[in-house]
Amino acid sequence: MEPAPSPQGRVRAPSPAGASGARLERLPRPDPRSTPLHGVIAARRSRREFGRRGLTDAETSALLWAGQGITSVEGGRAAPSAGALYPITLTLVDARGVWRYVPAVHALALEEVGDRRARLASAALGQESVAGAPLTIAVSARPAVLAARYRERAERYCLLEAGHVAQNVLLMATALGLAAVPVGAFDDEAVLGVLALGPAHLALYLLPVGAPPAGSG
Ligand SMILES: Cc1cc2nc3c(=O)[nH]c(=O)nc-3n(C[C@H](O)[C@H](O)[C@H](O)COP(=O)(O)O)c2cc1C
Repeated sequence: MEPAPSPQGRVRAPSPAGASGARLERLPRPDPRSTPLHGVIAARRSRREFGRRGLTDAETSALLWAGQGITSVEGGRAAPSAGALYPITLTLVDARGVWRYVPAVHALALEEVGDRRARLASAALGQESVAGAPLTIAVSARPAVLAARYRERAERYCLLEAGHVAQNVLLMATALGLAAVPVGAFDDEAVLGVLALGPAHLALYLLPVGAPPAGSG
């Protein structure tokens, strides 16, 4: 049963702008050490500079799994999806090429050979974080996957799902001690071109990830 709120916990709201005076009930202060997830959420920050080393295969695997990995025998994935229809595609851009993540077999399919990171950075309005990262995970969605069931809400659900997926990747990066930033400012068409995706896709997020720079603690 819910404990009754203590009378001491109830204080009047300060009125910074002549506010309504609504009653506040204070919440227990979250302890970042109380669960591993508390600690990861507390530690997550957007980090735009990276060290020289590339990511290990284990790190790359964990990031992609956190975004779209299959986590149940029924085929459920790490991030929620409206109607379990999964409109999101993850594409990895690194020094070797452009790779599509294939959740069903937890593998990367090589789409384009060659380093496209400079082109991706220029599509992202020259952002240094994209230029300097050893790899970027791009989150895109195909609203048509949801359209039959969700009609005019399909695009909205794609945006919501991209947020879930990106946050999972960012929290995994934090848990692994990596640096990452969500990037939403880019030229959509140019990004789709680099990712080798057609116009049925919405380019929604770029997630440059790398090791933190040396000496950044
Ligand atoms: C939708 C969205 C788009 C963003 N786009 C960019 C971006 O293009 N470039 C960038 O450096 N940071 C971008 N950010 C990161 C924000 O600048 C960052 O989250 C904010 O400053 C708060 O800092 P924190 O993430 O460390 O808590 C974006 C964040 C969101 C949620």
